Formats: sequence, C-alpha cells, structure tokens
Amino acid sequence: MKDDKLVMGVLGLGEGRSVISAVQKSSYYELGNICDLNDELCKKRVKEFGLSKYTTRYEDMLADDSIDVIGIYTPDQFHAKHIKQALKAGKHVICTKPVMIGLDQAKDLVGCEKESGKLVFVGQSSRFFEPLKRQRELYEEKNIGELISVETHYKNDSRWFLERDWSRQPGFSWMYNFMIHAVDLATWYIPEIEEVFGYGSVSPNMKSYNIHTEDTMSFVMKDKSGHFATVEGAYGSPCLDGNIEFPIECTLRGTTGISRGGYSKLKYYERTIDETGRHDRMETYDDKHDFYFRFEKENHHAGEYQNYIEYFARCLQKNMTPKPDLSEAIHTIGIMEAMKRSLTTGMPVKVSELMREYELE
Ligand SMILES: NC(=O)c1ccc[n+]([C@@H]2O[C@H](COP(=O)([O-])OP(=O)(O)OC[C@H]3O[C@@H](n4cnc5c(N)ncnc54)[C@H](O)[C@@H]3O)[C@@H](O)[C@H]2O)c1
Repeated sequence: MKDDKLVMGVLGLGEGRSVISAVQKSSYYELGNICDLNDELCKKRVKEFGLSKYTTRYEDMLADDSIDVIGIYTPDQFHAKHIKQALKAGKHVICTKPVMIGLDQAKDLVGCEKESGKLVFVGQSSRFFEPLKRQRELYEEKNIGELISVETHYKNDSRWFLERDWSRQPGFSWMYNFMIHAVDLATWYIPEIEEVFGYGSVSPNMKSYNIHTEDTMSFVMKDKSGHFATVEGAYGSPCLDGNIEFPIECTLRGTTGISRGGYSKLKYYERTIDETGRHDRMETYDDKHDFYFRFEKENHHAGEYQNYIEYFARCLQKNMTPKPDLSEAIHTIGIMEAMKRSLTTGMPVKVSELMREYELE
C-alpha cells in the first residue's frame, strides 16, 4: 500500500493496456510496474501512459515488495501458472477470464490460494458493463418477479482474433476465450447449474484456418429447481450489425417482467406488468461512453476494468470476498468442461460428476 492506495503490477500489455488506464484513473490504485516479454510493446506502453519503468521479467515484478496486486492479462493458456506464481510471491491477484483452460490445475490452485492467505478475483468484465450492472441491480430489487429462465449469447465475427499467435496454439478455444462471457452471465443468475446439453459445429470457415475448435454452439442448461438457460456462441462467420443484435446479450424472463442488457451498446430494456398495466423502460448511458471506451473503436474494456478493480479494492477494505472468486470461476470452467463433453458425446452431462472427477466437489 502507498498512501492508502493498492499498488498494482500489470502482466501482459495487450489487453493489459486497458487496466493500466483503469489504474491511472482510479483513486484506489497506484501503478507499481508493467511487464511483458515483448520489449517493444513495453516501450510503447511506457510512452503511451507516461511511465518511468517496465520489466520483461515477471520474476522482477513478483520480487517487488511494494506491489500488492498482480493484474494478469497474458494468453489464456498461462493464467493458472501466472496466478500460482503471484500467490507464492504473496500477492493478491486480479486475473482476466478464463481463470484456466481446463480443470487439471484447479485443485492445486485452490490449495495455493488457501496457503497464501491472498485473494484471487476473476475479471468477468461483462458483469461490470453499465447495462448489465444495471440489469443485475434491478433484478435484485425484484423488478421481474421470480426468475423463470435466462437467455444469453456472445455472437460476433471474431476471425480477426486469429491474428494472435496463441489462438493457434493448443488450449485456445472459442468457448473458453469468448463464450465464457455468455456462460458467466447465465450462471450469475442460475448459479447451481446441474446439467448441460448442446450442439456445436466447426464451420468450414474455421477449417480454412486449420482450426478445429467449435466456433458455432448452442446449449441449454438447468438447475435442480427447473430454472434453465440457453447459451449461444458464434465466432467464425458473419454476424448482424451490433445495433440490430448486441454481440453480448442477457435476457431475463420472470413472472412479472422481462429485461435485457448487453454489450457493447449502452442500452437497457425492460417490460414489467402490474395491476396498473404494462410499463416499458429503456435506459441509455451515452454519457458514460468515454468512460467505457477510451481507445480507438469499441473493443477495449477500460471502464469495465476500472469498475472491477475498484470493486476488488472495496471488498478488501470491507473484508469481503470479491466475486467471482477462485471457486466460482473454477465452477464456471467445470460447466464449460461439461459443455465440451456434451459436444463430444451428444448427451446431457451432469456438472457435479465432472467436478468429482477432479476432486473438486
Ligand atoms: N473482456 C475481457 O475481459 C477481455 C478482453 C480481451 C482479452 N481478454 C483476455 O486478456 C488476455 C490477453 O489477451 P490479449 O488480447 O491482450 O492478447 P495479446 O496477445 O494481445 O497480449 C498478451 C500479451 O502477453 C504477453 N506475454 C505472454 N507471456 C508472457 C509472460 N510469461 N510474461 C510477460 N508477458 C507475457 C505477450 O507478449 C502479449 O503481449 C487473454 O486471456 C484474453 O482472454 C479479456
């Protein structure tokens, strides 16, 4: 801590750029150092943000006693390893999604977190985007009555992403990297998903990139009390304009209302019905556009990251567990492992059976 501010070190300076901006604009934080293997990129960020130092060695940042929190924005395949190193060095962790790309390292990481006495928070950014934050707030006020079902999707022509070398490496999947946003929103509202079933396809477009992971998927999942969610993803083919269909969308159906929030439009829709009739609400948050989108285009997440790093800081102050914590994030990975298995077997899969295989329940 410095002057009552948490000191953060940022690892991985692609998307890590957004968290540097978030830290610089936040009264809760000070930037400790930045790190990337790519020396050129470090220099670019130093210039962009007016910094005085950087390192290309993660070990240097871990050895720096002034740093309280490590923000991890490296490729998905390295998250588990980088979290473990941070915990062993006695740092709190804010890690971007997905926390890991399978359950092999889950039990070990849970043990490391416990031993360290530090906290791991997973940055599910969509929860922290204005319309989806607002949808949750109103849902907690029971605006739609009792929840019946949830529909979420993340659909976007994301073939541009395949320029990243790590998207061609083992461990990359559209499900873990992209669809996790839709899965996380569904499980935020229906936390105790017990069974999942779905279909998926590796489109001909993917085959032309020599990629063999499903890029178009549709799932249904349910909990014990009958709430269910439909969750869809499409990444390797054309999509409609974001004004017609939000890339990320979450629709809640309840006994007395329906609500919809999404990304990246700053809009929220709701219809409720009571004894006085039908009430339609549409909120726009255009005044927050420049808070959420700070760089070129609308594909960065600085505002969401500022919301979540500040939430993390407030949780630490109040001695509360920031959510999603490690165990919730691992559970979401368990649900996605069950989704993967359903694609392979063509059968519904019980999440708890899968978790037990990894000694996680
Ligand atoms: N909405 C969101 O929350 C959101 C959005 C975009 C990306 N992400 C996540 O951010 C992560 C990074 O994605 P990206 O698009 O920035 O990828 P990227 O390839 O642009 O950046 C990753 C960086 O990590 C660096 N790196 C790799 N190994 C390293 C190591 N051992 N030490 C230091 N640096 C290392 C690379 O050099 C690279 O610059 C991914 O996990 C992705 O899922 C999250």
